[in-house]
Amino acid sequence: MAYERKDRYYRKAKEQGLPSRASFKIEEIIQKYHFVRPGNFVLDLGAAPGGWAVLLAKAVGPQGKVFALDLESLAKPPPANVSFFQGDIREEKTSTWLKEQLAGKKLDAVCSDMSPKLSGIFFKDAYISTELAELALEMARFWLKPGGHFVAKLFPGEEFPAYLKKVRAAFTSVKVVEPEASRKTSREVYVLGLKRTGQERNLEGSLPFIFAKS
Ligand SMILES: C[S@@+](CC[C@H](N)C(=O)[O-])C[C@H]1O[C@@H](n2cnc3c(N)ncnc32)[C@H](O)[C@@H]1O
Repeated sequence: MAYERKDRYYRKAKEQGLPSRASFKIEEIIQKYHFVRPGNFVLDLGAAPGGWAVLLAKAVGPQGKVFALDLESLAKPPPANVSFFQGDIREEKTSTWLKEQLAGKKLDAVCSDMSPKLSGIFFKDAYISTELAELALEMARFWLKPGGHFVAKLFPGEEFPAYLKKVRAAFTSVKVVEPEASRKTSREVYVLGLKRTGQERNLEGSLPFIFAKS
């Protein structure tokens, strides 16, 4: 069964000329939660090989923009409304790039599919993936408009309840979803934060230095 699911989404991605089967996960989230709309500005973290970027670019349309980031390069040139930066989310130059791209604007959605290279040691993979999801959340807390949405992938381990608490503090509604398009053998989940509340105080003071100030 796991093989059939993998095969089905893999084949579907190939048939549609998509860079990865991951496209179908964000497609589910977009459709079910009206996650992005035409004209939106969206951050795509962990964008390579480029499956999410293609779907997000379609959803925001020509008036919108996708800012895509990854350590690796994209498999093929992205759509015209995608601006790609190859770098590490932890590096200051990444934040500087985003700040320049936004030119004083804020984001409507922050999407993270970032994942470490999996070791197969569950507690280790869970810990590192939660660290990446924490960085994505910091980005969202800093750059999202009030009312904006957030999604991040992680492998839920010991740190998961504390992570959820932080997401709950920043969004009106929080959901944990396992998209149909995820491999059945994968323990990944996607944490959705819907409608940024914008009510936290002293946010700038709590940001890591790597995030350029707007
Ligand atoms: C599962 S893949 C993403 C698939 C992608 N969303 C797609 O639709 O094709 C996870 C990505 O996270 C990226 N990543 C991991 N750590 C990162 C970091 N510190 N900064 C930026 N990207 C990172 C990896 O390079 C990898 O390409």
